[in-house]
Amino acid sequence: MTVITDRPVPVDPQSQSRLRERGLEYRLIDMDDPADGAGFLRADARGFLDENPTEAELAQMRETMRTRRNIGVFDPDAGSWPIATVNGWVTPLTVPGAELPMWAISSVTVAGTHRRRGIARCLLEGELRAAAAAGVAVAGLTASEATIYSRYGFGPAIPVARLTIDTVRAGWAGGPVAGRVLYADKPTLAADLETLHEAARGDRSGQIAGWRGRWTRMAGLAEGDKQAAAVRGIRYLDVDGAVRGAMAYTLSELPDHFRSELKIRMMIATDDEALRALWQFVLQHDLVARAVVDQRPVDDPLPWLVADQRAVTVEVHDHGWLRLLDVPASLTARTYRAALDTVLDVHDPLGIAGGRWRVRVDDSGTCRVSVSDAPAEVEMSIVELSAIYAGAVPAAQLAAAGRVRGTEEAVAALSAAFLTAPAPLLGIWY
Ligand SMILES: CC(C)(COP(=O)(O)OP(=O)(O)OC[C@H]1O[C@@H](n2cnc3c(N)ncnc32)[C@H](O)[C@@H]1OP(=O)(O)O)[C@@H](O)C(=O)NCCC(=O)NCCS
Repeated sequence: MTVITDRPVPVDPQSQSRLRERGLEYRLIDMDDPADGAGFLRADARGFLDENPTEAELAQMRETMRTRRNIGVFDPDAGSWPIATVNGWVTPLTVPGAELPMWAISSVTVAGTHRRRGIARCLLEGELRAAAAAGVAVAGLTASEATIYSRYGFGPAIPVARLTIDTVRAGWAGGPVAGRVLYADKPTLAADLETLHEAARGDRSGQIAGWRGRWTRMAGLAEGDKQAAAVRGIRYLDVDGAVRGAMAYTLSELPDHFRSELKIRMMIATDDEALRALWQFVLQHDLVARAVVDQRPVDDPLPWLVADQRAVTVEVHDHGWLRLLDVPASLTARTYRAALDTVLDVHDPLGIAGGRWRVRVDDSGTCRVSVSDAPAEVEMSIVELSAIYAGAVPAAQLAAAGRVRGTEEAVAALSAAFLTAPAPLLGIWY
């Protein structure tokens, strides 16, 4: 993939001048400056209702944030911490048949004293314009609330499943497992999760690269993690002794039960047998009555691993949100499952990525896009195109909702081309 360095990208001049008109300074944070970095991290924690971080927590967070382009908004009357924060970094996004650079956005906060005055809008639009100006074709984020980001053109593109299992009732109906499951200490667990995620993330559309601080946190090694003492880990070794799976989890006693809930923090397997082994460990754990996990793919084999499918509750919910910034570049970056020849009209209220194109996919799944002035066969806004992009959401479903317009044939052809298998996944929060 093309490597784009995000660090030197300057702040967006439009957002800078809009905020300056209100007496606010919008600028890059110097994470190597102790006061500037700490102010950003403390404001970020305050925005997400976390406790004020200790010096040890700040030192750990700084390691991650150094790799990002951090921005603060400062009010001269409001002390030295920024009153709003955001950051972005460029990370590979897996799409069908390929990966492409994605501008990931996180740490979106506006201080309680400054909310509902349009500051978040300046932050988000600023990130999107900066990313587009840097030549990045797609932006992504995970959202604290599902109603915030469509107004900026993001679509919920990568749904995931939250699974709750009554392990007393579930039983086992899965195939055999030949390797071994062993406990892992926390440093080993963190290293396994990192290596396995890197090995597996190319297998499913929607995945992005992880980072060291994410795996350290999952393994219970992060400063300030109140659950840290409860974190345990296992690894699965195949018959040749190669590590193919790992899981971080906690156990907590259910009230009045003398049985516990097993909460999976992270479960990664690079093949089906490894995944079966991890699930078998969960389902057959003594003194556990319930297991819970989130951010699993919607086609997780779990319902077919248990003897009683009614022991499994599956809740599918939005998780990965995408926003196309360059339609030809993002559409040609992925492959497709069926041939297509259509004229697509895309409306973008922010004026970043709209236009009309002829989109042709040949029998090998390769896509070509050219500007067109022919009548559109399918019309949608950038939200809907971003939602179908990763291959999880059928265009026909959005057409049934009245959000994609076109003939039944054109919409069906779009669904057939865009949908992908296995189901897209974003296995981490950011
Ligand atoms: C979400 C947050 C950043 C919004 O900041 P803000 O400066 O108040 O937002 P703005 O004034 O720019 O509002 C922009 C739009 O978003 C809407 N909006 C703002 N916060 C919202 C929320 N929590 N839920 C739904 N819509 C919201 C506003 O109504 C406004 O709508 P409009 O464009 O139709 O007028 C802020 O409330 C916050 O810091 N929340 C806690 C941290 C958080 O959840 N961050 C998001 C992480 S994914």
